[in-house]
Amino acid sequence: MIAATPERDHQPDWPDGAAVRRARDALAGAAPLVTAPDIDRLRSRLAQPAFVLQAGDCAETFRDNTPASVADRVALLRAMAGEIAGGSGRPVVTVGRIAGQYAKPRSAPTESRSGITLPSYLGDAVNGEHFSAARRIPDPRNLVHAHEHSRKTLSYLAGSGVFTSHEALLLDYERPQTRPATAEGRFYDHSAHLLWIGERTRSLTGPHIDFAAGIANPIAVKIGPTATPTVLTGLHAVLNPDNVPGRLAFIFRMGHRRAYDLLYAMLSRITAEGWTDRVICDPMHGNTVVSPAGVKTRVVTTVEAETRAFFGACNDTGVTPGGIHLEVSGEDVSECVATDIDDAYLATDYRSACDPRLNPGQASRLARLVGELLSPHRESTPLREMAMSGT
Ligand code: PEP
Ligand code: CO
Repeated sequence: MIAATPERDHQPDWPDGAAVRRARDALAGAAPLVTAPDIDRLRSRLAQPAFVLQAGDCAETFRDNTPASVADRVALLRAMAGEIAGGSGRPVVTVGRIAGQYAKPRSAPTESRSGITLPSYLGDAVNGEHFSAARRIPDPRNLVHAHEHSRKTLSYLAGSGVFTSHEALLLDYERPQTRPATAEGRFYDHSAHLLWIGERTRSLTGPHIDFAAGIANPIAVKIGPTATPTVLTGLHAVLNPDNVPGRLAFIFRMGHRRAYDLLYAMLSRITAEGWTDRVICDPMHGNTVVSPAGVKTRVVTTVEAETRAFFGACNDTGVTPGGIHLEVSGEDVSECVATDIDDAYLATDYRSACDPRLNPGQASRLARLVGELLSPHRESTPLREMAMSGT
């Protein structure tokens, strides 16, 4: 069985159509997870010149959806926001990859271990991480479980000041939660405050951009190294034709080696056109490497190098740096390495259900660096050479 493919726009191959309809009906009938006024509140915060900290798990899991785990994640987000705000003097808006980050696009539709090939894990909203044929079959009831878990997480988050976001990947999850708000007739996706469209599903002719264009939530789009400034022009025209501040963000994930040059070209287009779209740096997804033992990891120095390249390119093009997007864990995991890839270290506490996350120490240090790079008091000319050399 093939569970999800690019040809199918990364939508699961649900085995039971009637069960999908039941799940969609349940989602359509459920009370909203987040309200239209709260979505509008984030939109107006994003229309201001605050800096966005967007961080959390690559893939949340139902198993880790406990008050203690959410409290750890919130504590880390607050500490990171404190580092950035303290270092830069700029207000920070905190948006978690939380309360709904349960679906993953995968590079390969199947995974093989010891001669056995099964559908890839696509996130708890679709199938199970456990490597068994039964658990890897997409089960539409998981869409409803994801919604119930998101509601629980939101109850743990109450009063924390954290907005929620996830990748709007599963259209069978997002569409039933999309409803018109009575007064203005605008449609809101009530599954999260902010939705982003991933690097693999941002085609202008695909269903995800079409979906995003129809909702009033703030939208972000991941932009990888194969994109050109023309891609930005197309996305801006479809997603933010009126150039409204707070509506659209581009999250760049270029890879540290080419980041400065690619960003320079992208950001130059934004300045030349006078777009209000926010620019956010994801210094992680272009810097994933595989260890000799076959473990996915990221080297913190490369994450830092892409972060510096982003701030350098912003400075050199006159674009305001709008945010940082990171995968982090509230627990002291061993998923990213400091400088050298070390399988013994990676084996000590690797827990991620998908991509490697920064642990709290690594994440706080990166936040401190962001605070420094964002500070108006720093040297105002991190020239091309500096950004490129990663110093
Ligand atoms: C992610 O954010 O986990 C992800 C899959 O990112 P991208 O779409 O940038 O590859
Ligand atoms: Co990821």
